[in-house]
Amino acid sequence: MTTIGSTITLAELEHDPYPALARLRADEPVAYVAELGLWLITRWDDVEYVHQRADLFTSATEPSWLNSVLGVNMLGSDGAEHRRLKDALQPTFTPSATGAWVTDRLPQICDELIDAFDPAGTDLMTSYAEPIAVRALQDALGWHDVSWQQIGEWTRGVCTGLANFANDPEPARIAAMANAESGESIRGGVVPRLAHTGLSPDEIVNNVRLCMSGGINEPRDGIALVTWALLTHPEALRACRADEGMWRSACEELFRWISPVATSTRQTTSDTELAGTTIPSGALVAAVLSSANRDERRWTDPDRFDIHRKEGPHLAFAAGAHVCLGAWLGRSTVRVAVQHLLDRLPGLDLAGKVDIRGFEFRGPLRLDVGW
Ligand code: HEM
Repeated sequence: MTTIGSTITLAELEHDPYPALARLRADEPVAYVAELGLWLITRWDDVEYVHQRADLFTSATEPSWLNSVLGVNMLGSDGAEHRRLKDALQPTFTPSATGAWVTDRLPQICDELIDAFDPAGTDLMTSYAEPIAVRALQDALGWHDVSWQQIGEWTRGVCTGLANFANDPEPARIAAMANAESGESIRGGVVPRLAHTGLSPDEIVNNVRLCMSGGINEPRDGIALVTWALLTHPEALRACRADEGMWRSACEELFRWISPVATSTRQTTSDTELAGTTIPSGALVAAVLSSANRDERRWTDPDRFDIHRKEGPHLAFAAGAHVCLGAWLGRSTVRVAVQHLLDRLPGLDLAGKVDIRGFEFRGPLRLDVGW
């Protein structure tokens, strides 16, 4: 029997995942997608169940691609070991640790970047969104003995390694160099500042690398996506300009509508039945956040970007034990950066076609604007 999962290709998911995810939600909510080597879980209730049942769906997969590329880290761990790592690093990213940066320093960084824009027009991904995202992490960690550009370059290298499933030699070389150089810099510049956490130097290095791979591209894509969504939905932009509180609603709705991180990847610890399908023990499972966030059982008219929606929280930052460590900082960074940009440049408009791409990580390739 041909399953829907067997017809789904990575190319289609990368281009526009939503039609394929809607087909799966309707008729095959627990689907093996051979091309990904993964079981996709696409309905809201089932995605929530995966997050709640770490005993059935573990993050400490065996083997762990994440741990082998970055070194053992909190997202590749579970139970008491995971809690120990997360509890040690959580205080670095709370509102009390980073709130003053968001309200005082971030607007200055936004101004400096806007002042440096080429008056003929600019690609916001490279001239605004990426530098802000890197500097949020750099400043939160107090990692000041290297430039943000260097951290950005290492992040690209580390992500090249994470995407190199085929183990091709050139990407592997780039990733190894980025891992080695960033590791040395973190050891000198961040480890002493985080010594009070009680984590070993290796644990700090590996988890900072995790924050680079997970905590830079997402706020970057978030800044670009919210800006693009508001520029293409002028009534939503007018509502934000008329009511300060709507900027927050616009960001939350964007995270629901186009979730920058698509999945929580786990491994079954035993044969597990979900929505009438048995997933074998040891299988890799992706709880698809970007699908749960468009599940018509949970949301009214889910494909519509509607900043007035009042239907409760989405799952773009996941849930359960592995809920995003940087959620507060990430959300705040995106909101302040977008509001500041659109306040400073009221005539901002798109100056080219915008291609939004990616399945696991989704965002615009570039965002050309003029004003
Ligand atoms: C603003 C955009 C962001 C989005 C959409 C996002 C999304 C996510 C998601 C979906 C997860 C869970 C993955 C899973 O369940 O497998 C996660 C975990 C994580 N995120 Fe974020 N993230 C963002 C920003 C950040 C930032 C700024 C940091 C930097 C501190 C960060 C650090 C982490 C870490 C360390 C984890 C692992 C937590 C754990 O294993 O307990 N993220 N993020």
